[in-house]
Amino acid sequence: MRSITFTLTLLMIALLITACGGGSDDSSTAAEITPEAAPETVVLAKPAPRTVAPTDGTLFEDSRNIKLEWDWHQPLAEDEYFDVRVWRPGDVDAGITWVKDTEADISAWMAEQGYGHFLWSVTAVVAEFDANGQPIIYDEVSGDSPIRRFGVFTAEMIAQNLHLTASADRLIDAELAAAGEVLYNEGLGTAVPSCLSCHIPDAEVLLAPSLIGTWDVMAERDPALSVREYIEDSLHRPDRIVPEGFYPGVMFQTYGTTLTPEQIEAIVEYTASLAAQ
Ligand code: HEC
Repeated sequence: MRSITFTLTLLMIALLITACGGGSDDSSTAAEITPEAAPETVVLAKPAPRTVAPTDGTLFEDSRNIKLEWDWHQPLAEDEYFDVRVWRPGDVDAGITWVKDTEADISAWMAEQGYGHFLWSVTAVVAEFDANGQPIIYDEVSGDSPIRRFGVFTAEMIAQNLHLTASADRLIDAELAAAGEVLYNEGLGTAVPSCLSCHIPDAEVLLAPSLIGTWDVMAERDPALSVREYIEDSLHRPDRIVPEGFYPGVMFQTYGTTLTPEQIEAIVEYTASLAAQ
């Protein structure tokens, strides 16, 4: 019995030696066994900033007026800044601006982002800037503030509870839609007519169906296709499904071959934005 215990003890010592000396990267185990073998910990001398506003989960109907506010236990030193990070769930927590203040108006940046949910946090960092204003030293001097969430949606989206299913395909890629809007409204020279020339909202005699607010209608045209896929299919095969009251052969038939895939993607996104209204 005694010899078994002895052997076991030896075995454990051997294991301990392997665990500590074998370059194991499970640092928590190593630290439990021999505290002095723990990896060098970076001591953050200063507490994390505290997020103040907007309150967690705020929904904005307009991205033009979004200001983040926080506070910190002391003023920033000369070479310290707040690194303001804003990102979409699932993305990396990328910094979007460095500021000296305890607030940041992020409206201009947000205007480019489209709808959806966002996360944000603030960390105090130390930096120096070269002659061109580029940061040359970067180190965190505080922990990250707690992460807060906010959302940007239209009033209609909120009324329809779309903010609850933010992955819903009605969320529009604003940048892509903006590129599509130009093509939709203007076409391409004389060769490719604009969509607007037929899909005229509020026309007295409708040559083509209005596409505004037609998301649910288009979602049901072909149950096998998403709305974006249906719109794209309409560009390739306009007459495959002809809505009641309209005629085949009217819509320009060759968008599918005269536009590039990128142009089609942009037009589809803009058309989707009209349909989602
Ligand atoms: C020359 C007139 C004309 C032009 C230009 C035109 N369309 Fe159409 N479009 C129609 C007509 C007519 C229909 C209905 C008959 C049909 O489906 O062919 C239609 C149908 C559609 C539908 C299906 C609507 C539904 O409810 O099922 C979509 C989507 C569509 N067009 C998108 C576009 C887009 C995007 C453009 C521009 C790239 C465009 N159209 C340009 C005339 C036009």
